[in-house]
Amino acid sequence: SDRPRVLSGIQPTAGSFHLGNYLGAVRQWVALQESHDAFYMVVDLHAITVPQDPAELRANTRLAVAQLLAAGLDPERCTLFVQSHVPEHAQLGWIMNCLTGFGEASRMTQFKDKSAKQGADRATVGLFTYPVLQVADILLYQADQVPVGEDQRQHIELTRDLAERFNGRYGQTFTVPAPYILKETGKIFDLQDPAVKMSKSASTPKGLVNLLDDPKATAKKVRSAVTDTDTVIRFDPEKKPGVSNLLGIYSTLTGTAVADLEQKYEGQGYGALKTDLAEVMVEFVTPFRTRTQEYLDDPETLDSLLAKGAEKARAVAAETLAQTYDRMGL
Ligand code: ADP
Ligand code: NA
Repeated sequence: SDRPRVLSGIQPTAGSFHLGNYLGAVRQWVALQESHDAFYMVVDLHAITVPQDPAELRANTRLAVAQLLAAGLDPERCTLFVQSHVPEHAQLGWIMNCLTGFGEASRMTQFKDKSAKQGADRATVGLFTYPVLQVADILLYQADQVPVGEDQRQHIELTRDLAERFNGRYGQTFTVPAPYILKETGKIFDLQDPAVKMSKSASTPKGLVNLLDDPKATAKKVRSAVTDTDTVIRFDPEKKPGVSNLLGIYSTLTGTAVADLEQKYEGQGYGALKTDLAEVMVEFVTPFRTRTQEYLDDPETLDSLLAKGAEKARAVAAETLAQTYDRMGL
C-alpha cells in the first residue's frame, strides 16, 4: 500500500473508554482508516505495568476491542489486534531499552505522575520503561503518524529520538514518526475541574464521562459541568477553560465548527449550551452502548477477528524485527 501508515494503541484497563480517549484518539483512528494504512491495538502489555487481575484483564481486553468496533473501526479497513498476540513488541522493546539513556527515560513526565500516585516503592521497572515499549510498538510498523492525545506528545518525541539514533548507528531502519494531535480535542478536561485532563485516575466521578455509563447519568454530568461566572459563549481555553472544553466536545461530536457554535449561542446562556450538548451526548452514547454489547455477545467472532488481525500485524512486525536483529549483529 502506498498510503501513509498510522499506528496507535489504547489500554484495556479502563473498562469503559472515557470521552477523552474517544475524542482525543479513537475518533481520529476511525477517520484515518479511510485514508491511511492503519494499525490499531489494545495494549495489554502496557496494562500489566500495574497489578492486574487475570480474569479482569482478559475481559477488559475484549471490552476494549468491542468498543473500538462500536466506535466504527472496521477490520476490513484497518489492522486491529491485541499487543501481546504479537511477540515482536516485547522483543523490540528490549532492543529499545538498550538504546535509551537512563536519564532520558527518567525525564518522562507520565512516569513521574503515575509513580507518584502509586508510591515510588511500589512502581515497577515495567512502568518506568513503558514509554520505551511504546517506542517499539510504533517503530515495528514503520508508522508515519501516531494519532494520540496531547499527553502522549513527549513519548512520540522519544520515539523520534530513538529511531534517529538507531538509524544513525546501524543504518536506515526505522521510519521517524510524527504525532497526529488535533487542536480542539487533543486534551479533553474534567467536567468539574477544567484545569485537569479527563482521566480514569485523576478525574472526579462527576467530571469523568464514561461512554458505557447510563446515558441519563451522562446527560446530568454535562448539565452540571463547571463553567465560569461570565456569560459569553466563546472558545478561549486560557480564560474560559470550562466553556471551551464543552465547545470542543460539542464541535467534534456534531462536526460543527467552533465558530459556528459561538454564533449559534450568541446572546444565550450557558444553560442552553449544556442542555443541547447533553442531548448530543445521549444521542452518541446510546447506540455506542448497544453496539458494544452486541460485539461482546459474540465472542467467537471477536476472537476470530483478533486472530486475523494478529496475523496481519505479525507479518509487518516480524520483518522489521528481523532487519533490526540483522543490523545489530544478533
Ligand atoms: P488514560 O490516559 O485514560 O490512561 P490511555 O493511556 O489508554 O488512557 O490513552 C488512550 C488514548 O487516549 C491516548 O492516545 C491518550 O492520549 C488519549 N487520551 C487520554 N485521556 C485524554 C484526554 N483527557 N483528552 C484527550 N485525549 C486523551
Ligand atoms: Na494516556
